[in-house]
Formats: sequence, structure tokens, C-alpha cells
Amino acid sequence: MSLLELQSLRKSFGGFAAVDGVSMSVRKGGLYGLIGPNGAGKSTLFALASGLIAQDGGSVRFDGADVSRLKPVDRARRGLVRTFQVPREFKRLSVLENLLVAAPRLSGESLWRVFLQPGTVARDERVARDRAGEILEFLKLGHVRDVAAGSLSGGQKKLLELGRALMLDPKIVLLDEPFAGVNAVLIEDISARLRELKALGITVFVVEHNLPALCELVEELHVMDRGRLIASGEPERVLEIETVRSAYLGGAR
Ligand SMILES: Nc1ncnc2c1ncn2[C@@H]1O[C@H](COP(=O)(O)OP(=O)(O)OP(=O)(O)O)[C@@H](O)[C@H]1O
Ligand SMILES: [Mg+2]
Repeated sequence: MSLLELQSLRKSFGGFAAVDGVSMSVRKGGLYGLIGPNGAGKSTLFALASGLIAQDGGSVRFDGADVSRLKPVDRARRGLVRTFQVPREFKRLSVLENLLVAAPRLSGESLWRVFLQPGTVARDERVARDRAGEILEFLKLGHVRDVAAGSLSGGQKKLLELGRALMLDPKIVLLDEPFAGVNAVLIEDISARLRELKALGITVFVVEHNLPALCELVEELHVMDRGRLIASGEPERVLEIETVRSAYLGGAR
């Protein structure tokens, strides 16, 4: 069953077509990858899917509904969540606090409820703290929960970014280059966590330049070049396709 469906998406910046009519269907509960040379439009596609930027044409369907006109926060509430290519942690806040600020709107944010229902507010905060604690254990970041996020390693920041997404209880996570700047050991760790998310029924869609690590991880690979989708399928087969080799691997040879 299709969870995320992108239909003929288009986005231009100053007359330049960054995403030029991309259609793609992402099934529920799998691990998927998206590759393509620098500037192919991968991050722009994620931005369109998550609602960070508005499409010039086409539509985004998620979990059976058209979400094309919803704001990112409303798409996130439905379970469509992305992470950013460059981690956006609050450097001076602790790791735990970084998760808490990503939590769904707490009832404590409404002043009236603080006065009228202090019990509810305290309970919500406890729930968010418990959840953040569980996510940090899951990501094996429990030992740095009180450390300032700015002092984490590159790989730990990527894990924190994933943790912030998990606070939103996603049905799908779109991960933009989770392995970039991460050492080999931590890449294995991140991959293991992503497999566990899949086992929990969460769909994972990853943009990556690290082809060996990505192909090891995903069951289906999509390839973009110059704003267009040029191939989709099993990783081993897709990487054999001549247009993919010349578009993507050609640059790397
Ligand atoms: N906000 C923007 N304003 C102007 N041009 C943009 C903007 N965002 C992206 N672009 C351009 O659109 C094209 C696609 O960019 P995008 O970031 O989606 O590529 P990418 O496939 O993610 O590349 P990379 O692998 O380097 O991250 C690029 O030429 C980029 O310069
Ligand atoms: Mg990008």
C-alpha cells in the first residue's frame, strides 16, 4: 500500500527547474533510498514532500489524503516528518532539551491550561520527558542526555536529528544525508537503528551519497538527475542501468 505519493511535482527557482515533474510512490513499512548527483533536486524534493516549500505544480498525497496545501507542522502531525541535510540542533540546549522542544505542542503552552489544569500540564510534560528518555536509550544517546548538543560529534548530531523526528511519532521519516560526515562505526549504528524503525512499522526514506552504505540498507532505490527521476528499483539492478552510471557514477569515476 502506498503511504507517500508524489505526483508530477515541479519546483523552479528563478526559472531553473530544480524538480521537474517527479512522480514517486513510497510503500508503507519499507526502507527506500534516493540518490543523484549534487544539485539533482533531492533535498528540494524532500522540502516539497514535507511542505517546507510550496510546489509550482503537482501534488503530495500522504496516508490517503491530499496534503499538498498543508503546512509542515500539519504534515508532521499526520506522521510525515523530515530531517535536514545540515543538522539544526540548538547548540546550547542539552540533548534531552533538544528532544523536548521538538515534542508535539504541549498543553502547557496554553496559558489558560496552566492555570485551570495544572495537573494536565504536568502530566503532558512527564509524558514528553519519558518519551524523550526512551528515544535517547533507543538511539544509544542516554549517556549524553545532559550534554550541550553543540558539543556532540557529527554522527551523534545526526542521531539527535533522528531523535527529534521520532518525538513526532512519525509514520515516515525522510532523512537527508544521515551518513554525511559520520564515521564508519556510527554509520553502522545509524543503519541498525533505521532497520529497527522499519521493524516497528515506520517507513524510512533516505537521501545519501554514500552508495555502499545506502545499498546495504535499502530495498528500493530511486535515482534523480537534473530535476527528474531517471530510475527506480532494486539497488543492484538500478546501479547497472547505463543512464544511471553515466549520470551519477560518471561524475565519481
Ligand atoms: N532556495 C533555493 N533557491 C535557489 N536555488 C535553489 C534553492 N534550493 C535549491 N536550489 C537549486 O536547486 C537545485 C537542486 O538543489 P537540491 O538542494 O535539491 O539538490 P540536491 O540533489 O539535494 O544536491 P546535494 O546532493 O548537493 O545536496 C540546485 O541547483 C540548487 O542550487
Ligand atoms: Mg541535498
